[in-house]
Amino acid sequence: MTKPIGIDLGTGNCQYAFISDDGRSVVGPIDSGECLPSVVYFNNGIPVIGQEAADLATLDPLNGIFHWKRDLGSGKLLYDNNGSPITAEDVAIMLCSYIKTQAERFHGTVIDTCTLCVPANFTDEQKQAVIDAAKKAGFSCPGFTDQEPSLSNEPTAALRCADADNVVFSDGYCLVVDIGCGTTDITLANRQGNKYEIATTNGIPKLGGKDITDALVAYCRDEFKQSTGIELNQGAHPDLDLELFNRCEAAKMRLRNTDQVQIPIQTGGQKQLITITKEQSAQLAKPLTDEIIEVVNRTITEVGVALDQVKQMIPVGGGSLYHAVDPALEAYFGRPLTDIGNRHTAVCRGAALAAWAECGEVSTSTGYKLPAQVAIVHDVTSYSYGIQALDDQSQPKFATLLQKGASIPSTFTREFVLDQEGANGADIRLLQGGTEGGDPGQAAQLGSFKLENLTPVYGRAHRVEVTCSIDKNGLLKSTAYDTEKGITATEEVSV
Ligand SMILES: Nc1ncnc2c1ncn2[C@@H]1O[C@H](COP(=O)(O)OP(=O)(O)OP(=O)(O)O)[C@@H](O)[C@H]1O
Ligand SMILES: [Mg+2]
Repeated sequence: MTKPIGIDLGTGNCQYAFISDDGRSVVGPIDSGECLPSVVYFNNGIPVIGQEAADLATLDPLNGIFHWKRDLGSGKLLYDNNGSPITAEDVAIMLCSYIKTQAERFHGTVIDTCTLCVPANFTDEQKQAVIDAAKKAGFSCPGFTDQEPSLSNEPTAALRCADADNVVFSDGYCLVVDIGCGTTDITLANRQGNKYEIATTNGIPKLGGKDITDALVAYCRDEFKQSTGIELNQGAHPDLDLELFNRCEAAKMRLRNTDQVQIPIQTGGQKQLITITKEQSAQLAKPLTDEIIEVVNRTITEVGVALDQVKQMIPVGGGSLYHAVDPALEAYFGRPLTDIGNRHTAVCRGAALAAWAECGEVSTSTGYKLPAQVAIVHDVTSYSYGIQALDDQSQPKFATLLQKGASIPSTFTREFVLDQEGANGADIRLLQGGTEGGDPGQAAQLGSFKLENLTPVYGRAHRVEVTCSIDKNGLLKSTAYDTEKGITATEEVSV
């Protein structure tokens, strides 16, 4: 057991943080500063990581891997490294290993214990892929129980950081809006002293700063076509695509402090300067900011909380720095937002606090100091979980086992009756995201398993109990138990 760290494997940037000797959560130095661009470049088959990879890839984008996080858990081939397939999981292992090495170099000691952040509504496969990548990179778990690196929802980690930085100034509800590069998470928490109950969490898995940049890129392509007649088809010139994305990314950041930006495009013997004003860029991103406000509103209303009961709204994540985000949030909230200071590092610093909170006992015995303040946070599930059952008309329905917003960890058992008399088995389909009695087709299937070799029952109900439990990492386990013969079958998935 060594010094635990928190790791934020971001879509655009990775960071790690640790607890300093005076009990503060501090971002560790990595690459050229506090951030490691989440980029891998293959230089004649040899992986290069971070800023160097991002630089080399500008001349040779097809040998670089960017924005891979959304593909975690899919097993999708992202790159063929001389016959060796590279998936998002492989990229995560490389980045975790790099972070480990850099942290060990800085601290002069072995670093093998971490908590990693994940978007609140990462799927089962995505969460498992993060845990597996960290394990393969040589990390284990804070505490000694299961030896697995632990996970923290990104907005929950940011909340821990806000608490440690004393920016949560009153008891009652506060809302964290975490806009990253590839994902947005919104969490409503209820604070009483140093205890936080997460009331609910909603995520927008495919909305982040990257999508705002993509909107600027699309605008530039249109303008260039209108003035030159040349169509800049995505994919036709990968180096031009990357150059335009990087220029729009930089221009987007400048728009925070300037009224307009100019983006140069040069191709096919044509040169153009595309001007984008602050107003135009806000319009381009409006569908995205509207969607964020819509989900913020849903998050507050779904738990029956009135907007004026929400005491604070805390934007975090680099994507929240886009100039049109704060005004949109503030217009909805009707009051000033709470500034956490460094929005880029809140999630990562919160992950270090989560790692520390988990191994508090261990850390005292090894002599490490606890942070001055450790919030106690009770997190909840971002989805409902259940199985497919039949209703009174023998139509398939979603039968809830764990409600959305169930405490993590939780366990719930529900009894079912087999629909066919004399059945000697049952197929159990585990579902995510349905509503009680609703169409199971609207829910995602997480897995299925069979209860087999049952003793057929005639003339009376054949009862089966199905239990769903969720552990501290959001790993879901479902067990079916045949009450007649005492047979059990189990399926484990992470959610
Ligand atoms: N000043 C700024 N104005 C607008 N956008 C910004 C600014 N600074 C950073 N960003 C955007 O923030 C995003 C990166 O934020 P962050 O590092 O929090 O994301 P991430 O952790 O990599 O992604 P995710 O959490 O979605 O996996 C990028 O899209 C970047 O363009
Ligand atoms: Mg992030």
